[in-house]
Amino acid sequence: MTQWTPASWRDKPVEQMPTYKDKQALENVERELSSLPPLVFAGEARNLQQNLADVAQGKAFLLQGGDCAESFAEFNANKIRDTFRVILQMSVVLTYAGALPIVKMGRIAGQFAKPRSSDNETQNGITLPSYRGDNINGFEFTEESRKHDPERMLKAYHQSSATLNLLRAFAKGGYADLNRVHKWNLGFIKNSPLGERYKDLADRIDEALHFMSACGVTSQTVPQIYQTDFYTSHEALLLNYEEALTRIDSLTGEYYDCSAHFLWIGARTHQNDHAQIEFVKGIKNPLGLKCSPDLDPDELLRLIDTLNPENIPGRLTLITRMGHKQVEEKLTPLIRAVEKEGRSVVWSCDPMHANIIKSSTGYKTRNFEHILSEMRQFFAIHKAEGTHPGGVHFEMTGQNVTECIGGAEEITDEDLSSRYHTHCDPRLNANQSLELAFLIAKELKDVKQRNEIDPILVDAAE
Ligand code: PEP
Ligand code: CO
Repeated sequence: MTQWTPASWRDKPVEQMPTYKDKQALENVERELSSLPPLVFAGEARNLQQNLADVAQGKAFLLQGGDCAESFAEFNANKIRDTFRVILQMSVVLTYAGALPIVKMGRIAGQFAKPRSSDNETQNGITLPSYRGDNINGFEFTEESRKHDPERMLKAYHQSSATLNLLRAFAKGGYADLNRVHKWNLGFIKNSPLGERYKDLADRIDEALHFMSACGVTSQTVPQIYQTDFYTSHEALLLNYEEALTRIDSLTGEYYDCSAHFLWIGARTHQNDHAQIEFVKGIKNPLGLKCSPDLDPDELLRLIDTLNPENIPGRLTLITRMGHKQVEEKLTPLIRAVEKEGRSVVWSCDPMHANIIKSSTGYKTRNFEHILSEMRQFFAIHKAEGTHPGGVHFEMTGQNVTECIGGAEEITDEDLSSRYHTHCDPRLNANQSLELAFLIAKELKDVKQRNEIDPILVDAAE
């Protein structure tokens, strides 16, 4: 066996990666990226792994969400704030229902590269390379824009850095103070039925905070009221970028990919002997592995051998994305195999990626009912197997888009054209995200009741 290095992926078969024509330009960018500061610290990734170890044991719940693909054009402070705000709202709903800490993680500050089902795209008889994410090429359908350009990695780095800077300020600088729980409910959500429901819950939290404040527990005395931890994540796909941001931690002497706290392997690149798996197996960040219906239990166990040979709790999150029709048939054998072998994993449900359909009006969309159905079945299957439903992974935006059909606003096929802005997969809008949170809350409450923890507290979340 050859020794792992941040560059050892280069000797493995590789898929879904760009083909850069100008090797010199690529090397220059790689060199520059390697000299730029890390975006996250190894210690933060270790804290996250500790939080995820709690999730693996059913003592916390993981909420991971954000864009399918971030874009250069839509980069602005309001958009980042709105995504952060909806994740905060969702996490309040879940904390209240489950009486559990919620581990908050964005698909943000680095979620650019996209795997594609085809290398090329044809429009009106013209064939060009497929769009692969703004860090690789442009969305516009022209020859110039679709060229794979290494300089885009630098732009992605700087955008990630600015995004992370703002997220850190939001998380630690007072925006996330629980005393502001009402203020997160702004804009178009406020007047919707979901907004009303959120307001009721926020009223109850406010009341509790006033009571606690009278007892001397305030944001000044307990920092957890004033600030929160917010972690970043993206798919480990574009390995030139990931390698350049991989650094040795001075405390432990181990390698961390400092482009994000958490990296996951996508469903199309999980071959055990391929480049993406080779790369992530050597970094110490907590990892995710997307599990698609084609992954059989033996293959999964071999992947776990590779990614978490020491069976460290919190190291590996299995993000299952089976589709609402197949989830029972496909997820159950995976859970049984993992349990039988005594492997510690976090089970997280991505109810988005195997529920893509084409609308009658020609849009790539998802039906909110299918998303809910997969999520509910995920909880039911874990209940039947006696395992912990650890988290959810979903694509959302804080904006009022119309990309997924259904939900309380009853978005129809015809509505999709009104505000369909995604560059890649259809996302839940802010209302649909909050609605999803209330439905997950119901499931979490159930789990809580099974664990026989204070039923009065649980009831209050209704
Ligand atoms: C994604 O998460 O955007 C994605 C492409 O998912 P998957 O690899 O599960 O298809
Ligand atoms: Co996606």
